[in-house]
Amino acid sequence: MKRNKSIIVLIGCCFLLVALFLYFFYIPPATDIGSAQPIPFSHRIHAGVKEIQCAYCHPYVARSNHPGLPPVEKCLHCHKYIIIKHPWIEEEHRYYNTKTPTPWKKVNRLAEHVLFNHQRHINSEIKCRECHGAVETMDRIKGTQFQMGFCINCHQQKKANLGCWLACHS
Ligand code: HEC
Ligand code: HEC
Ligand code: HEC
Ligand code: HEC
Repeated sequence: MKRNKSIIVLIGCCFLLVALFLYFFYIPPATDIGSAQPIPFSHRIHAGVKEIQCAYCHPYVARSNHPGLPPVEKCLHCHKYIIIKHPWIEEEHRYYNTKTPTPWKKVNRLAEHVLFNHQRHINSEIKCRECHGAVETMDRIKGTQFQMGFCINCHQQKKANLGCWLACHS
């Protein structure tokens, strides 16, 4: 009798642990906005309200495997003249003056062994938003862990290469 009871308690605890694990694994607290950045840079203000082209800040997207994020010089092209006394712009100046690259957090992830290249995609006129969503409405970009299904679905629809073992994996 006593033994049965402790087994039930044990099983109960296991369920609880599994439930908690699943909860935090699938619904990590507050991930519906992107992670905080060293400077609260807003795509909504820059690419949305002010209509600055994506390519102005991400010029290597079509040419390189690593489009990269804009260096602080680029921010200062404008912010030498615009809201120069803003505390975050002064922070940019500190990065610039100490030659420290702004430690932007990378938000998008792709498995290491997947070869992804923007160029082929942009050349075939796929819009940024098809993969990144409406970035120009976001104050903070919420990244994605891109999964293979995401690549395959579109490749199927657009009749692009599906010989992925050759094309996408190194
Ligand atoms: C077909 C899907 C697709 C399209 C279209 C696309 N991207 Fe991406 N982008 C990705 C993926 C996947 C990654 C993650 C790649 C990685 O981590 O290597 C990424 C990463 C990035 C990064 C981060 C790169 C870095 O060096 O950290 C930037 C910036 C970016 N994209 C900008 C753009 C812009 C601007 C456009 C439109 C001109 C665009 N992307 C169009 C799929 C896409
Ligand atoms: C092409 C010009 C241009 C570039 C390049 C630019 N900005 Fe801006 N930025 C603006 C304008 C315009 C505003 C709006 C100013 C206002 O509110 O009057 C702004 C506003 C801001 C603000 C204040 C937002 C707020 O909450 O009020 C911050 C912070 C900022 N920019 C950071 C950056 C950073 C960091 C970079 C570089 C990655 C950058 N900007 C690049 C034009 C630019
Ligand atoms: C004024 C400069 C500026 C403009 C214009 C701009 N971006 Fe960005 N972008 C940044 C900066 C700075 C970051 C890094 C901070 C962040 O993630 O918010 C970034 C990050 C990103 C990332 C996330 C990269 C990663 O994986 O961490 C994507 C995707 C992206 N931008 C796409 C776009 C698209 C699409 C547009 C046009 C609709 C655009 N950007 C316009 C400056 C800019
Ligand atoms: C929104 C649609 C779309 C998404 C999402 C997409 N692709 Fe593509 N991809 C295409 C199209 C269309 C082409 C064909 C371009 C061409 O013919 O030049 C292509 C071409 C390619 C090629 C070149 C294939 C060849 O023939 O050599 C590679 C590699 C590739 N994609 C990898 C990926 C990976 C990896 C992902 C996921 C991270 C991805 N793609 C996501 C539409 C997409």
